[in-house]
Amino acid sequence: MMKKKLKLGLFGFGCVGQGLYHVLHETHGVKAEIKRIGVKHRDKQRPLQHDLFTYNPSDILEDPEIDVVVELIDDAEVAFQIVKGSLEKGKAVVTANKKMLAEHLEEIYQLQRKYDRPVLYEGAVCGSIPIIRNLEEYYDNDLLSSIEGIFNGSTNYILTKVFEERKNYADALLQAQQLGFAESDPALDVRAFDPKYKLVIAMAHTFGVFVRPEDVVNFGIDRISEVDVKYARDHNLTIKLVARAFKEGEHVFGLVAPQFVEPNHPLASVRNEYNAVQVESAFSEKQLFVGKGAGSYPTGSAVLSDISALTYDYRYEYKKRNEGTTLRFSNKAAAEVIVSFTADKAVTPHDFLQFTGGFRGNGHQFLTGYVPLEKIRNWAGQPGVNVILAPGTRPKSIKSIEKEQVTAA
Ligand code: HSE
Repeated sequence: MMKKKLKLGLFGFGCVGQGLYHVLHETHGVKAEIKRIGVKHRDKQRPLQHDLFTYNPSDILEDPEIDVVVELIDDAEVAFQIVKGSLEKGKAVVTANKKMLAEHLEEIYQLQRKYDRPVLYEGAVCGSIPIIRNLEEYYDNDLLSSIEGIFNGSTNYILTKVFEERKNYADALLQAQQLGFAESDPALDVRAFDPKYKLVIAMAHTFGVFVRPEDVVNFGIDRISEVDVKYARDHNLTIKLVARAFKEGEHVFGLVAPQFVEPNHPLASVRNEYNAVQVESAFSEKQLFVGKGAGSYPTGSAVLSDISALTYDYRYEYKKRNEGTTLRFSNKAAAEVIVSFTADKAVTPHDFLQFTGGFRGNGHQFLTGYVPLEKIRNWAGQPGVNVILAPGTRPKSIKSIEKEQVTAA
């Protein structure tokens, strides 16, 4: 197929925007040039010639020469308006805005159909790992049963520094911010919203379901105390923030939470800002993708790959969705956790679906057992309670746990 030369209108010139500019100019194979860059702040110093920049979005949206809008700004709502406006004007879109996509995915799916223009977003999920296109194309006819892994670079960087270099949490977070890995509001990273947005996007391409981000339970790494870290070290474990979605019967479940990980677990060796995605399917079984999940050039390269795909008219077909999936999202699952807290009775054995035991150490109490995902959500709103999934455990539907209980009785 003859590749065409694309004219790009770029919105945003921050970490990823500048990364894209760099990788675009270092690569010779991609037939695309940036015509205009829309930015917000007039008083910022820019490293490129002044007339490339505009403060008026219409200069890009109304320019008939611009074929593709590349949206790389921070504000999710403004970003959505840009995406919508671009499609209405017949332009294709590339975006890396996971919050915007997770919050508006179904609408964006409909808008693509309505205006017959594509929206590509490989850079939004796990940075440089080409997971969306693989889910769309490679696993087309396969029976995917789960997708899980490390979906956030900043928190993986922080946990690596805390465990390997005994850095304190605050210093490690500051470094992740200085390196351009963290979101402008780093609470999105450390409280596990950012990996949840990515999981929501991945779920649409894995299972064909559109899930509201607020329906998925997320628990962050911001409450991990020195006592939890000591517990991990004493048991030869590390901690990773794991995002996962899996299918059981007619339901799809999702959860993002920290987990104690054994040294021989594939995620244990994924360090710093690297991400990992493990896909499990009926015939190919387990496959692990590893790559840089954050940073200017790795994310810029994923955005560039989408631009390149547009030169041969690529679009997502949302095959699992369009094949007429009957799967539905549910939170009726439970996970085996080790929950730690200091205030007496903040957590009790009654909170558990299956209580397996407890112990005290270093001024903390620990209780273990299976808890429903909704309980993990409640604890996320209860300061002083920290939840870490038990090593080796995978959440299961409550139905299957009840079945096991009946069989065991
Ligand atoms: N803040 C995100 C992360 C950036 O740390 O993974 C990449 O999406």
